[in-house]
Amino acid sequence: MSSDQPAGNFQSVLDEQRVFAPSPAFVDKARVNADALAALRAEAAADSVGFWSRLAREHISWQTPFTVGLDDSAAPNYRWFTDGRTNASANCLDRHLGALGDKPAIRFEGEAGDVRIWTYRQLHAEVCKLANGLKSLGIGKGDRVVIYMPHTAEAVIAMQACARIGAVHSVVFGGFSASSLRDRIEDAGARLLITADGGRRGGNIVELKKAADEALDGACKSIEHVIVFQRTGHPVQWNDKLDLWWHDVLATQPAQCDPEWVEAEHPLFLLYTSGSTGKPKGIQHSTGGYLVNATVSCQWVFDLQGSDVFWCTADIGWITGHSYVTYGPLANGATILIYEGAPTVPDAGRFWKIIQDHKVTIFYTAPTAIRALMRLGDEWPAQYDLSSLRLLGSVGEPINPEAWMWYHRVVGKERLPIVDTWWQTETGAIMMSPIPGATPTKPGSCTQPLPGIFVEVVDEAGTPIQGNNVGGYLVITKPWPSMLRTIWGDNARYIKTYWEQFGNQYYVAGDSTHRDDDGYYWILGRTDDVLNVSGHRLGTMEVESALVSHPRVAEAAVVGRPHEVKGEAVFAFVTVRGKRPEGDEAVALAKELRDHVAKQIGAIAKPDDIRFADNLPKTRSGKIMRRLLRSIAKGEEITSDTSTLENPGIVAQLQGKG
Ligand code: PRX
Repeated sequence: MSSDQPAGNFQSVLDEQRVFAPSPAFVDKARVNADALAALRAEAAADSVGFWSRLAREHISWQTPFTVGLDDSAAPNYRWFTDGRTNASANCLDRHLGALGDKPAIRFEGEAGDVRIWTYRQLHAEVCKLANGLKSLGIGKGDRVVIYMPHTAEAVIAMQACARIGAVHSVVFGGFSASSLRDRIEDAGARLLITADGGRRGGNIVELKKAADEALDGACKSIEHVIVFQRTGHPVQWNDKLDLWWHDVLATQPAQCDPEWVEAEHPLFLLYTSGSTGKPKGIQHSTGGYLVNATVSCQWVFDLQGSDVFWCTADIGWITGHSYVTYGPLANGATILIYEGAPTVPDAGRFWKIIQDHKVTIFYTAPTAIRALMRLGDEWPAQYDLSSLRLLGSVGEPINPEAWMWYHRVVGKERLPIVDTWWQTETGAIMMSPIPGATPTKPGSCTQPLPGIFVEVVDEAGTPIQGNNVGGYLVITKPWPSMLRTIWGDNARYIKTYWEQFGNQYYVAGDSTHRDDDGYYWILGRTDDVLNVSGHRLGTMEVESALVSHPRVAEAAVVGRPHEVKGEAVFAFVTVRGKRPEGDEAVALAKELRDHVAKQIGAIAKPDDIRFADNLPKTRSGKIMRRLLRSIAKGEEITSDTSTLENPGIVAQLQGKG
């Protein structure tokens, strides 16, 4: 690893020795026990393409069966199951109508406490009506539809309706700003936008329609219609040329809509995510391969069974909300829970009350939420009956051993398995995780790859490092069905970002990892300029571009610093045009810049710290020394040689001393 790599939680990782074996009670009923896991691994090791093909045949319904497993003729643009035809919505809905038609598919709870339940039959009917509505507007196979919705059941309905007719959805998180929405609509060339008048969060209305109007104002010429779901009922601006109410679109449509059978490789969705450079990239996922991993991973990792109530707290705007709210659990005929609002409304017991009221059995959330709930005190979970829970999960960022232990002790009552799942927007589904009925867990480790997933730790030259107790770059060495297919409209960037570094041999994850003496993996953090703030990915360059678009800012450099709850916080070093602000002026300008970033990207990107300086530390060739800035942001003593800087005197000022 270069010295520029973040140290992450390396020391606590090396110090962590605790091991928790699966409980015999869990193992007894588990879908996959140690013997079954060993058999899966052996099968995959012998023939990974045959392994995935078998699972694809067994767990997915195909209208036209495939004969090709993997097509690697255009590697690294791998394709799976190419001559098969299927439909994601038919897999999630139609095939359950016989046996599970009256089973709840979605239990929805709004922030105000309103509860609504959709059975599989009702969900199917609603999805069909919207799908017919989309068709009546001329939307069909391959058209892009952007979804900018609150976290409600209708968001899932919108995704399923697109999938049903072969339209490609691109969900934009409701917390993103008008400007981020505009960029994504334009990059995707979307014909339709589905939004809502607003959403409810933290006791407020999130003004989605207003942001959508702003995004479309003078831009997004490809948009022909905007469908508006009425969630809050508060007044919104109306554009007669574009806008249609969701309820009007559905009112006249039949509750039957035959699925469009698409090729396995047909794009199911685009999802924009941050990289090191440039604007967010549209990660393109397939239909068939994506569904295979999303479906099977639910069975292996969450031990999903017929009686489960599965609550994944992720918003549908993120990949976790795609694979473990919308597609994976529904393809398995499970009951999912969707909660619209904030975890602390009306008080810090809300999550635990939801688990109690809906008898949630599987709870899957992010370390940032666990740390925030932990800080609120053990008395909150203690007030509620959490005995329905049988499995806990974590995703999105490294979980520190302390948070893991709290989750284990206070939520899991020391009896529930915890699955720490490592994966990415690009991987489509979970890649590394314990199998709860088979794998002993260690606090802070995602343990080992799932069957059929092959990873290595490689050095700077891309050479696999053999043995254990080693660290380096994490790569995936064999293609897997749910891997991203390309970056929308920019295949060269796909190859450059994920493959070129090590000669197109491996998928380069962009994370550094440590493999311990037992062969367990510990994710240490990103090796690129991507931050992970509260489990959300942000490119440092995106935040820098947002800052320099403010008229007062001359130059900006953004780094991450460790944060107790968020994992990482945004720290910005800024030089301004004119005199460097001090005192009250600096405080006022910092606030203005934070609001400016929120407007440009979204509130999640607001810098926690902004430090003004006369200059940024640069090498003589003009490169900003990020490693130095990271040390300063952490408040570390600067011991490295700064004499090679063009402007060594600037260090004291950046430290807030000058
Ligand atoms: O750095 C890793 C971290 O999140 C990144 C992927 O972010 P995103 O595409 O937004 O997907 C998040 C949800 C799947 C990874 O490169 N990450 C994700 N899960 C873990 C993790 N880091 C450590 N442990 C995890 N379990």
